[in-house]
Amino acid sequence: MKISLIVNGKPAVVDADDAQMPLLYALRDNLGLHGPRFGCGLGQCGACTVHVEGKAARSCVLPLASVAGKKIVTLEGLGTPAKPHPLQKAFIDEQAVQCGYCINGMIMQAAALLQTNKKPSEQEIKAALAENLCRCGTHVRIVRAIKRATEATA
Ligand code: FES
Ligand code: FES
Repeated sequence: MKISLIVNGKPAVVDADDAQMPLLYALRDNLGLHGPRFGCGLGQCGACTVHVEGKAARSCVLPLASVAGKKIVTLEGLGTPAKPHPLQKAFIDEQAVQCGYCINGMIMQAAALLQTNKKPSEQEIKAALAENLCRCGTHVRIVRAIKRATEATA
């Protein structure tokens, strides 16, 4: 069956055998968008985070059918290498990455926070990212990068 979505501002159609397939698989395997990562596959780590209708969502546990017709934004839709989102630039400037596996989720979760709170406190940043796991322990630099991005957009 064919399921239509709006992905990164453009119409996309996914031809899926199973409409209950996770959105993450459709993004990565059908649409070639590899920003969102497969971490736990259980909605527990945040590596697969995308925005659905402007809100952060864990694409590994979202059935494709549940997002039919909806607006999805992935890391690729946030910015480009030539024109990065302030968060993407700040993560590079702060070198807030070790293995990088969690970073998609950290940036997408932070971007959702900044949409509703342009100048979050350190506590608010930490609370927003509390459910995003980083096995490398890069949290200090991640928080610093998010603060830097808020200063760039202030
Ligand atoms: S891969 Fe989706 S929350 Fe871990
Ligand atoms: S940088 Fe490796 S999991 Fe976060």
